[in-house]
Amino acid sequence: MFVEVDERGAKRLLARHPWVWQGMLRRAPQDPGFYPVTHRGRFLALALFNPGTELAVRAYAWEEADPWAAWLKNLRAALQRREADRAARPQGGRRLVHAEGDFLPGLVVDEYAGHLVVQIGAAALEARRAALVEALVEALGPRGVLLKNDARGRRQEGLPLYVEAAYGEVPERLWVEEGPVWLPVRPWQGQKTGAFLDQRENRLFAGSLAERIRPARALDVFGYQGGFALHVARHAGEVWVVDASEAALRVAKEAAEKNRLSNLRTLEANAFDFLKREARRGPAYDLVVLDPPSFARKRADLERAYAAYKEINLRAMRLLRPGGYLLTASCSHHLGEEAFLAMLKEAAGDARRAFRLVARRGQAADHPVLVNVPETGYLKFAVLEAVD
Ligand SMILES: C[S@@+](CC[C@H](N)C(=O)[O-])C[C@H]1O[C@@H](n2cnc3c(N)ncnc32)[C@H](O)[C@@H]1O
Repeated sequence: MFVEVDERGAKRLLARHPWVWQGMLRRAPQDPGFYPVTHRGRFLALALFNPGTELAVRAYAWEEADPWAAWLKNLRAALQRREADRAARPQGGRRLVHAEGDFLPGLVVDEYAGHLVVQIGAAALEARRAALVEALVEALGPRGVLLKNDARGRRQEGLPLYVEAAYGEVPERLWVEEGPVWLPVRPWQGQKTGAFLDQRENRLFAGSLAERIRPARALDVFGYQGGFALHVARHAGEVWVVDASEAALRVAKEAAEKNRLSNLRTLEANAFDFLKREARRGPAYDLVVLDPPSFARKRADLERAYAAYKEINLRAMRLLRPGGYLLTASCSHHLGEEAFLAMLKEAAGDARRAFRLVARRGQAADHPVLVNVPETGYLKFAVLEAVD
């Protein structure tokens, strides 16, 4: 059995973009699965296929082979790329599999101090989950494997939402070593796989910056479990974590204790309201982190999202004392790097303040970006210094 695509689908696959849409299919099997993809009978790629989704084909290999064997080969290659890091940081957190970025569409695997959290986002792969877990256990010898299959996107694949341990034990709460900080992770209940590993290198950067500038007052807005704040608080007078999630803030407080940081405080609030209120009081902070959730989950949301990003950045800019730093992120793929910088330019202009662009950063290196697949790169991170 195979999937036959039209001219447009073939063009995409030949350019090494893995996605082919339902409307570009000529002939296809009735069931989800791992299949060869052809054009006019000629082999093009191996792909995950789902007849029931708009995004029907997600390719992962461009050489003819047994589809499952080729998938396992890509898995082994992804794990091998992280081998040195695993050996160097056994108590750390890392992404082991970054879906299309590792030629493994539909799969995310994060590791937290020897525990694996797996997210499956494709019906074809769900059917092979026992074999997948077996392969992971054999290759990595983890303490436990959690299937955190509760992302809403699974519904489009026709898959149920659930969270269950598939091997060994995975605790409700665990700690990973992130440089000098113990970072909290809640694999079962937390957002994403329990922590935001894509910001790992940026959190370390924030810690080094704080060590250099020694902020008297700092803010971590949309702070979740205090990831950035924990790094900054080691070198700051006082740091406030602001988030709408009471559960996340409770963990942030626990983390402050675990890291022996008595200067980390939490505030449960809507960040938009908080920033508006606080900005009226004028410049009072030396360092502000803004790490909002994605405001544009689809392209149609972009205009509204742009305005929202601008609003929070403008207000954060007003909060900074001269010489202060804004560390600002967007994890929306739809807001590209250029638009992100244009938004910051507009926000700075409206705030009537000048900022130096000190650094432009992105997602952690274990979240690889493919040039052919811009969708694999989503996190923008800018470091701005208030120069007046
Ligand atoms: C991308 S996460 C932040 C991750 C965090 N910086 C870290 O490094 O672990 C975004 C956070 O924003 C919070 N959030 C979403 N909407 C919010 C709102 N309107 N006001 C305050 N917090 C919000 C979520 O609860 C979530 O914790």
